[in-house]
Amino acid sequence: MTKQIRIHETGGPDVLRYEDATLGAPGPGQVRLRQTAVGLNFIDVYQRSGLYPLPLPSGIGLEAAGIVEAVGDGVADLRPGDRIAYAGGPLGAYADARVMPAGPLVKLPDAIKDEQAAAMMLQGLTAHYLIHRTCRAKLGDTVLLHAAAGGVGLIACQWLSALGVTVIGTVGSEEKAALARAHGCAHTILYRDENIAERVRDITNGAGVPVVFDSVGKDTWAASLDSLSPLGLMVSYGNASGAVPPFAVGQLASKGSLFVTRPTLATYMARREDLEAAANALFAVVADGTVKIAALQSYPLADAAQAHRDLEARRTSGSTILIP
Ligand SMILES: NC(=O)c1ccc[n+]([C@@H]2O[C@H](COP(=O)([O-])OP(=O)(O)OC[C@H]3O[C@@H](n4cnc5c(N)ncnc54)[C@H](OP(=O)(O)O)[C@@H]3O)[C@@H](O)[C@H]2O)c1
Repeated sequence: MTKQIRIHETGGPDVLRYEDATLGAPGPGQVRLRQTAVGLNFIDVYQRSGLYPLPLPSGIGLEAAGIVEAVGDGVADLRPGDRIAYAGGPLGAYADARVMPAGPLVKLPDAIKDEQAAAMMLQGLTAHYLIHRTCRAKLGDTVLLHAAAGGVGLIACQWLSALGVTVIGTVGSEEKAALARAHGCAHTILYRDENIAERVRDITNGAGVPVVFDSVGKDTWAASLDSLSPLGLMVSYGNASGAVPPFAVGQLASKGSLFVTRPTLATYMARREDLEAAANALFAVVADGTVKIAALQSYPLADAAQAHRDLEARRTSGSTILIP
């Protein structure tokens, strides 16, 4: 038997149901995992609420760490007892044990603890591709990063500042501003009170920034475009405040021949070699202390609904894990 969280309908946090389930043997290409820590991500909220539609009923969650208990036919690289983590794959990470395809799994080095892995795989792989592939951030750049004290935010602040990039981060409170600064964010903007584009222009002596990383969506879209320098890149990678409404593409001309991309982790990690390269890069910066990872909130798996409430109400900072 296993305990898992499933949804039978979309809606508020109360649709998350803690249920018993039976666990079969792994089939070809599959593994059975005992999970020790599960990652909470904002995409879980979009899927639970119906913003990203799912066939129902459904498991939920895309990230966890744990131990391989059994492997099915054709799984050559894993064996029982291996410590693993994943970000992606079929929904159903909110569980104490599960059977899933081996494809998304990566082995954990000794330097990475299970709770760190669950706190960083999805958000850290995202930070990696945003920084190293969507744009190639480098020494001397200045970028605008929204929700800088969030899960992706704190990882990206640390990684960017280690590369010599000046990060201007938006945050929802003074406490979050202090946290972002402690993680390498050079300038913070309290975007509930301050005009984002005006502050960016002040900080950059009128130039604007060449890149905006925008995961807030509806509420920040216009200010993000107004913060870019000519030929700047708008990276719209999330919608914590709601989906970005349709926009007139001609705005990109009048605001300085701008570029827009809407990337996903799934696209960037679709090839196994890209997943392994990104995971190894993430493990390296965590192991050498460049990027520090700690789950700043931890909840019993059974209390996932409360974790969702807190995440949606902007009460969390950094990464959050659920403990089965
Ligand atoms: N495209 C991809 O590949 C990809 C992958 C991973 C994550 N993401 C996106 O990246 C974002 C961050 O994910 P995360 O899991 O690390 O979450 P998170 O940043 O820890 O949490 C979201 C944060 O967004 C801010 N926010 C602003 N307006 C909000 C609103 N109306 N409601 C709720 N929060 C609001 C809050 O910070 P303040 O209080 O400081 O405003 C909140 O803490 C999400 O949009 C997620 O979907 C995208």
